[in-house]
This record gives sequence, C-alpha cells and structure tokens, in this order.
Amino acid sequence: MTIGLADPSLRPGPPQGRAAVIVGVGAYVPPDLVSNADLESRLDTSDEWIRTRTGISTRHVVSPGTATSDLAVEAGRRALKSADDSQVDAVVLATTTPDRPCPATAPEVAARLGLGGVPAFDVSAVCTGFLYGLATAAGLIASGIAERVLLIAADAFTTIIDPTDRTTAVIFADGAGAVVLRAGESWEPGAVGPIVLGSDGDQSDLITVPAGGSRQRSSGEPAKPGDEFFQMAGRATYRHAVERMTEASLQAVAAAGWAIEDVDRLAAHQANARILEAVADRLAVPAERRLSNIARVGNTGAASIPLLLAQAVENGGLEAGQRVLLTAFGGGLAWGAATVTWPALG
Ligand code: UT7
Repeated sequence: MTIGLADPSLRPGPPQGRAAVIVGVGAYVPPDLVSNADLESRLDTSDEWIRTRTGISTRHVVSPGTATSDLAVEAGRRALKSADDSQVDAVVLATTTPDRPCPATAPEVAARLGLGGVPAFDVSAVCTGFLYGLATAAGLIASGIAERVLLIAADAFTTIIDPTDRTTAVIFADGAGAVVLRAGESWEPGAVGPIVLGSDGDQSDLITVPAGGSRQRSSGEPAKPGDEFFQMAGRATYRHAVERMTEASLQAVAAAGWAIEDVDRLAAHQANARILEAVADRLAVPAERRLSNIARVGNTGAASIPLLLAQAVENGGLEAGQRVLLTAFGGGLAWGAATVTWPALG
C-alpha cells in the first residue's frame, strides 16, 4: 500500500498557520441532456442495467465546439459571484480533459474571467482532481503565496469517451464546479480541515488514455485504434474505489478530531451509486446524510464534488454549520478525503 500523506501517523497534528476558508461555490452543467433511452438506441445496453448498476438516469453533455474551458469559466464566474468577489491571487484548474495537451487550460480560463496576470495552472488527478486541487490551493494560502484562490474542477469527459464503449459511455458526463478560498483561521466556518491524499501508480493501467502522451509518441509505433479514448477496468476499479474512499474518509475524520457520527453530510465523488452506498455503509453514515446527484448528472470526473456541493446548497440539502466529509477516488490511482464545516454563503 502506498502511504504518503494518507498515513495519519506521519501527520504532525492539525495544520498550523493560515487555513483556507471556502467563501464561495458555483457550478455549471452544459444544457444538452442524454437519457438512458438515448443510449439504449445506440448501444447494447438498457435503462434497467444502467439504473441498477450505476444509479444514473440522465447526464449533461457538451455540444460540439464546447470545451472544458467553457464549462470552467461559467462555474468560476458563479463561484466568484457567490463569494462577492472579482479578484483572486491564483487560479487552479483540476481537469483530465484540458482544451489542448499544451499549454495548461487554467491561464485561458483566468484571462476570460478577467483575472489575467495571476498564477494559473492545471492539476491532473482525474476524479480526485478537486481534492488534489484543494490541497494545492490550501498550500498556496498557507505559504502566503496567495490570499485568495479560485479553484475550479471541470471535465468534458464525453470528449475522450469512446461512444461505442458501453462500459464507459453510460457513466461519464460533463460539468464543472468551483470554490473560492481565502486565508483565514482553522476554527472559522468554511475552513478546510485536514486533507488526506494517496496514490498507487502500480495500478495506473486500470484507468487510462493510452495514446497521445510521450510514452506512445516516443515508441515510434502508431497508436492502436481506440487508444485515444479513455479506458477503464470497471470491476477492479470498483473494488479499489470502495476500499480507498472508506480508508481515506476514516483518516480524514480522525485527523479532524471528529467521529463518524459528527458527519452531517457525506459528499463523495459520484462514481457510481453502488460505490457510494458501499462506502457510506462501511462508514456507517446514515442514508439521510449522504448527498447524491449521480442520477441526474452521472460521473463528471473532477467536477463531481463541487458540482454536488453547489447543487446541494441550491436545493437545501446542505446548510451552514453542517459538518461535511468529502472523499474521492480515480485514475492514477489517486484518492483523498477532507473535512469542512459548511459556511454561510451569500
Ligand atoms: O470515477 C472514478 C473511477 N471510476 C469508478 O469508480 C467506476 C468503477 N466501476 C463501475 O462503476 C462498474 O464497474 C461499472 C458500472 C463500470 C460496471 O458495472 P459492474 O457491475 O462492475 O459490471 P461488470 O463490468 O462486472 O459487467 C457485468 C456484465 C458484463 O457482462 P457478462 O460478462 O456478465 O456477460 C458486461 O459485459 O455487464 C455487462 N455490461 C453491460 N451490460 C449492459 C457492461 N456494461 C454494460 C452496459 N449495459 N452498459
């Protein structure tokens, strides 16, 4: 097992110094919807299989010409509005589907938000991107490099999905979510608690886009047909997802000095409804404390957690003062968990 930050015994205790405090949240999904019936008409699948195996009924997808930056800009704009802010010192974008392999997408997003000139860069941690981005943003704040950070997580997953692959095409979808963080104190509502992160690169082939990177390019061999698409070994991934999210969640809760009974809301990466249930059952978080929007939005990669949080705030499922446990898992393999007491947002 890879340990790294995931081992609480390596942690010196609660983080000292400046905390990162959430002061705004926003999300955006593209308007086009794909239903299970739409997928049934072009794939060897059924509404019944998709609903019972994944919990998904509909998902939002980008239309041709729409890229990750377009989703990110809209989510970022909404988060800045929620924070009543127009200026930050850094923009971090978590994504697996950058507009182009080079350069990073974050500088363009920053410029389009009128934030040109600030440091802006991408974080690549697939479905755990939001939590890796949160750790990065918290680090920028703790070190004094930034007072305020806009963290956006956006994925246009359908642009890398093989439309004929029924194992991925029914699950993955598009969307974006964002938070604004400012420097503050660890006792303040909105202060991000301990963040637990881990990875296991021995399992990197379980979730991959084989072609397009330096490995394939330097081999001199043409890419195999289909290798430009996202590929996932679903069953093996499923097992790791349940184990890693459960383990990281317990570590984050312990590092925060909470007990599981203190968790008012579990906001887990919306990978698959059955995975969410298995994690929540193992943690013994009761059904009414589990946030879920996977039925309506599918698996939106890095965007999943902030999209879930923003929609829960909108529909009253998440209120100020509630203790929230965040956890995610995805390609890398990479996983993580964090705690936050939800703030009152404007
Ligand atoms: O986002 C973070 C990383 N991703 C995840 O955490 C996702 C993890 N994995 C999963 O969510 C699930 O493994 C899947 C939803 C991808 C697949 O569900 P499963 O229950 O693990 O199914 P399976 O892969 O074991 O396949 C069971 C059967 C197979 O048929 P046979 O071999 O039993 O005849 C598949 O070919 O279901 C078949 N199948 C489908 N049938 C209808 C696979 N996909 C489909 C489909 N429609 N879309």
